[in-house]
Amino acid sequence: MATTDDIQREEATTKDYAEYTLATGIEAGQRLELQSNITRQMLGRVLPQQIVSHLRSVAKKGHRPRVCDIGTGPGHWLFDARAQLREDDINAVLDGYDIHQELFPPEEKRKAEDVSFGELNIHQQEHFIPLMKSKYDVVHVRYLSVAVGPDQWDGAVENCLSILKPGGIFVWEEILLEKMELIDPEKWTNVLRMFKLNWSILRRNDVEPKLTSLFNDNLEGVTQENFITKDLNEKWQRLQALNMSMASKELVEKAVEIGEPAIKFVGLDSAEELQEILRLTQQDFNNGAMLHMPVNRWMGVLPSSSRGSGKRPEGKTKLTESFRRWFCCK
Ligand SMILES: C[S@@+](CC[C@H](N)C(=O)[O-])C[C@H]1O[C@@H](n2cnc3c(N)ncnc32)[C@H](O)[C@@H]1O
Repeated sequence: MATTDDIQREEATTKDYAEYTLATGIEAGQRLELQSNITRQMLGRVLPQQIVSHLRSVAKKGHRPRVCDIGTGPGHWLFDARAQLREDDINAVLDGYDIHQELFPPEEKRKAEDVSFGELNIHQQEHFIPLMKSKYDVVHVRYLSVAVGPDQWDGAVENCLSILKPGGIFVWEEILLEKMELIDPEKWTNVLRMFKLNWSILRRNDVEPKLTSLFNDNLEGVTQENFITKDLNEKWQRLQALNMSMASKELVEKAVEIGEPAIKFVGLDSAEELQEILRLTQQDFNNGAMLHMPVNRWMGVLPSSSRGSGKRPEGKTKLTESFRRWFCCK
């Protein structure tokens, strides 16, 4: 008979031991701010010209443009968007949604910048239903892939598209975890070891093929841009190393908090062993180790005719997915 331990272990392996493996406390908020600053350096102004032009044309028709950010955390993207739109004299509604409300900024900041925040789980279709009454001209998502399991991509994208107006723009910016680049891996063996642990949630997410096919299947005029922290100057590269050092700490602390099933799952015998690897990893980062972060931006326009049924994408996407599983990943 299965014991509670067996069941816990089973749950740990099948559900990757946590729905979201990064933290949500004050330090996590600080890291997200750092990551957001690094991203701004890499990608430039948060709203590409195509989005600004679209919002301007909505405003010219006498409507207040509506923009939302899903998985917004402390809302850095929205505050940057507000600053940019202010310069462009566009007065848009800006709404942020996240499953972890504790990350939201203080009320005074929300009021001062006229940005609203609400609780929402990207995987729960029912959370999107009330938002369909007043759809958005732009739906934006950034850095959410660690919260999307292999079978959840279609549903997550479909939910986002369900609240986008026809002709509206969907944009998703994502770190390509499978393409992270450690410079000089022979020298920085601790970072390499940390990186090679079985952080399954980080390894399993085929961000690039998934988002590329979902954008191509559901949107028009799709563009894809690539960025990497390698192109930043020395100062920002050092900050990127700090970002990776802090992210490693978050992963380790979460695993230690969950306990034995998570420690075993990443392939180690004890929490102490994991904490020692973290200590050495942070030392490597302090001594100059560099782990570069590639980021892609996918952008596309929702066709005027195809939406509104609330149906999950079928046909081509599903078939491609089944073939991919059979041929490459079984
Ligand atoms: C890496 S952070 C990125 C935050 C923000 N987009 C940014 O770029 O600064 C991931 C965010 O996704 C949120 N999140 C995790 N699971 C989620 C879910 N199922 N639905 C909505 N948000 C989720 C987390 O709370 C966190 O704020």
